[in-house]
Amino acid sequence: MNGDVFPRHLLPDSAKVDEGRLVIGGCDVSDLAHEFGTPLFIYDEEHLRARCREAVSAFGPDVAYASKAFLCTAMARLVHEEGMKIDVSTGGEMYVALHAGVPPERIVFHGNNKSTAEIEMALEHGVGRIVVDSWDEIDRIEALVASGATVPAVLLRMNPGIEAHTHEYLQTGVTDSKFGFPLTDGVAQAAIDRVRSSPSMEFIGVHAHIGSQVFDVSSFGKAIDALAPFVKDSGATEFSIGGGLGVAYVEGEKSGTISEWADQVREAVQRAGIGATVSAEPGRTIVATAAVTVYTVGTIKRVPGIRTYVAVDGGMSDNPRPVLYGSGYEAISVTDVDAPRTETVRIVGKHCESGDIIVRDAHVPESLVVGGFLATPVTGAYGHSMGSNYNKVLRPAVVFVHSGVPRLVVERESYRDLVARDVD
Ligand code: LLP
Repeated sequence: MNGDVFPRHLLPDSAKVDEGRLVIGGCDVSDLAHEFGTPLFIYDEEHLRARCREAVSAFGPDVAYASKAFLCTAMARLVHEEGMKIDVSTGGEMYVALHAGVPPERIVFHGNNKSTAEIEMALEHGVGRIVVDSWDEIDRIEALVASGATVPAVLLRMNPGIEAHTHEYLQTGVTDSKFGFPLTDGVAQAAIDRVRSSPSMEFIGVHAHIGSQVFDVSSFGKAIDALAPFVKDSGATEFSIGGGLGVAYVEGEKSGTISEWADQVREAVQRAGIGATVSAEPGRTIVATAAVTVYTVGTIKRVPGIRTYVAVDGGMSDNPRPVLYGSGYEAISVTDVDAPRTETVRIVGKHCESGDIIVRDAHVPESLVVGGFLATPVTGAYGHSMGSNYNKVLRPAVVFVHSGVPRLVVERESYRDLVARDVD
C-alpha cells in the first residue's frame, strides 16, 4: 500500500534489512547483483531445505517435489538430500533428475502425452512410479513390456471433476480437461479394471491434481470425496492429492502452510474412509517465496498525467506469469527497502511487446533511479522454469545463498549459447 514499508512475509525466510539494504542468506543483494549481473534469481537455500523438510514431515517419505516449478541440477540434488521424491513430467525433467544423481526409484513420472521414447526411458532406468494418464499410454506401456521392458509400478491419474478456485489455465481437475481419467461414465473404473488385470503394470494407487495456486482448501476435500469410492474399492495402497496449494504473491494475500494443508488433506481422507497412504506433490509452496529476481533499472519514462514506466533488463522472458495469467507481484528497491513506497509506477521489461509487464501498479520509493536495483519477490516458482529467450534476451543466472556465501547453480546464458544449435 502507498507509503507502507515492504511486506516482509513475501520475502525468503532468511531475508533481513540492514540499513535499508536487502540481505538474503547473509548476502547483500546489491553485492550479488554486482557480482553476478542482472537479471538474477537469488534463492535462499535454507528456505528451500526447510520447505522440503516440512513437506516430508507433513506427508511422509512419498511426498514428491513437482520439479516443473523450478529445476536445475542443484535443485534436484537438494530435494533428494532433504528426503523428497521428485515429480517429472517430461523426458527432459527426468534427464535432469537422473543427471543430478536422484535414484530412479525416487522419481515419479507424470504427463498427459508421454511418448513411447519417454516411457521407454523411464522403464529402462526403473523410475519408481509412472502416473498413467490415458488409454494410449496404457497401450504404449503394454507394448513396451511385451517387447521385454520391466513392469512398472503405476498410479492412475483421475480427474475428479472439481472446479478449483483459481485461474482457468491453472485448473486441471474439471471434467473438460486434457488430464486424467474422468470419474464420469464409468471411465475411471474401467481404467482401474484394465490396469489391475494387466500383467504389464503393477497397480499401486490413484493420483489427482485439481489445479494450482488454490487458496480455498475445501476444493481438495471435495476432490477427495469424489475420488473416495474409486480409491476405496480399487485395492490402492497409495493416494496422491497432487500439488496446488496457493502462495501469497502480493500484499494482503495470506497463504496456509504445507503442514496445515497436510492436516486438512489427511482429515478429509480419513473422513472419506480412504485407507491408502496419502501423499502430495507440492511445487510452488516449496520454491516460490524462496527466491527474488533482481533487475537493473534501465529507463524511467514519465508520461505526464498518465503513468511512469520503469523499465528493467528482463521481463516476460524471465517471468511470463503476469502476461499469461495476469499475476500480480510487488517490487522492492534493493538498497532502500524500508523507504515509504509513495510512487506508483508500472514496471516493464525490455521485450518488444506492450504486454511485457512485470508489475502493473508497483509501489516504489521516490529514491528509485536509473541504474538502481529492483527486486520482485516470490519469483521462485514458474519463473525460471517457464522462461524463454524471446528477443534473444539471455536467460538469467541463478544463485543459491546460504550463511553469507553465494553458490552459482545456473550460469547466465551467453551470446554464444544463442547460436550454439544453429547450423551455419
Ligand atoms: N502435480 C501435478 C500433476 C501438476 O501438474 C502440478 C502443477 C503440480 C503437482 C504442482 O503444483 P503446485 O504445487 O506448484 O501448484 N505455470 C503455472 C502453474 C502450472 C502448474 C502445473 N502443474 C503458474 O505459473 O502458476
